[in-house]
Amino acid sequence: MQNSLQQLFESYISNKPIFANKSALSIKYTPSIIPHREQRINQIANILAPAIRLEKPSNIFIYGKTGTGKSLVCNYVTSQLANLAKDKGIPVKTVYINCKLRKIADTEYRLVAHLARHFGRTVPATGLPTDEVYRLFYETIDDKEQIVLIVLDEIDKLISKCGDEILYNFTRISQELKNAEVSLIGISNDLMFIDNIDARVRSSLNEEEIIFPPYDALQLKDILAERAKIAFNSSAIDELVISKCAAYAAREHGDARRALDLLRVAGEIAERQGCSKVEERHVDMADEKIEHDRVIEVIKSQPTQSKVVLYSIIETCKNRKNPIYTGDIFNVYIGKCTLMGERQLTQRRISDLITELDTLGLINAKVISMGRGGRKKEISLAVPQASVDKIMGIIKEDLVV
Ligand SMILES: Nc1ncnc2c1ncn2[C@@H]1O[C@H](COP(=O)(O)OP(=O)(O)OP(=O)(O)O)[C@@H](O)[C@H]1O
Ligand SMILES: [Mg+2]
Repeated sequence: MQNSLQQLFESYISNKPIFANKSALSIKYTPSIIPHREQRINQIANILAPAIRLEKPSNIFIYGKTGTGKSLVCNYVTSQLANLAKDKGIPVKTVYINCKLRKIADTEYRLVAHLARHFGRTVPATGLPTDEVYRLFYETIDDKEQIVLIVLDEIDKLISKCGDEILYNFTRISQELKNAEVSLIGISNDLMFIDNIDARVRSSLNEEEIIFPPYDALQLKDILAERAKIAFNSSAIDELVISKCAAYAAREHGDARRALDLLRVAGEIAERQGCSKVEERHVDMADEKIEHDRVIEVIKSQPTQSKVVLYSIIETCKNRKNPIYTGDIFNVYIGKCTLMGERQLTQRRISDLITELDTLGLINAKVISMGRGGRKKEISLAVPQASVDKIMGIIKEDLVV
């Protein structure tokens, strides 16, 4: 035992490490080269450029699916602008807020207080009327002529927490000011979001609208190749591995975050196995691991009744080869509820929960027409076979089945 540990540690000394600078694959890393977004970068830069002459830029609404580079590109352009303004002494200020963050953006009060504090004003954590916090913020930025660019990333989260009144107030800020001007950049990966907000807010927020399309596999390959140059020792990685990560990440929609995760996890697996090079099989293992972790996270966050239904589905699938239907699941489900002393839902409600599990990608539920208007759902598992036991273990722990 001790010998094998010795060998394990020694192999870390003798083998050339896989990674040269692993942080280049982390989510915190900001790349200096951003392939395949030149057009979007120029578009945003052109819209914001009037700020340099102290003219108010149009508000921008940016949307696109997750991992398409929205936050990266927006931060890149605004920080370039802010740096230039600082060098030349032009009063342009940018504030970036990720609305997902709880302490900063879960109430209107907190968000406006955060902004006022950003400009040096002291605001108590609670206690003032919201109008008063707005007034403090206006007063603070309006004490001189300046352009303020406020980036509200994941803006859909803000609305789901605070309602769309807050956006209405924000799009009207400039009307309250004499010296300063405020422009908004809203970013969202929820494509329905802009359709669902108040029409006045919509027309004001998307004076300019920029869409980030998903990357294709070739574009992802270029993005990964740039990062891999920094992250890996050159002998530890080759083009085939990079192409495979890119192709896997492009399967659903071209998500650069997913591609980078695959490459990083494949490297970690290769390192752990004592290999001197990342191989294609490591990418397959990484893909399974990431999917496994995703599935486990999703399951943990499900309400009890969904867990009972999923458990019933897994157990039924394990015991039967034939296609299984909602009715089969329902019978097993009732047994589980009795065993656990859980409240029993109706078959109709169970059918809804089955549809939700399908949407989450945990199962496949195919609706089959039975003629004369009758329909039923044919159900199969969509989670990796290797994850099934772990999933059952997790649900069991939670439910004491
Ligand atoms: N063109 C690119 N070049 C280099 N890296 C990129 C590129 N596009 C995205 N990335 C990287 O991919 C990851 C995801 O990008 P980003 O966070 O900008 O996505 P997003 O569109 O904001 O996604 P979400 O909607 O989930 O917030 C980041 O690590 C980012 O650095
Ligand atoms: Mg983002």
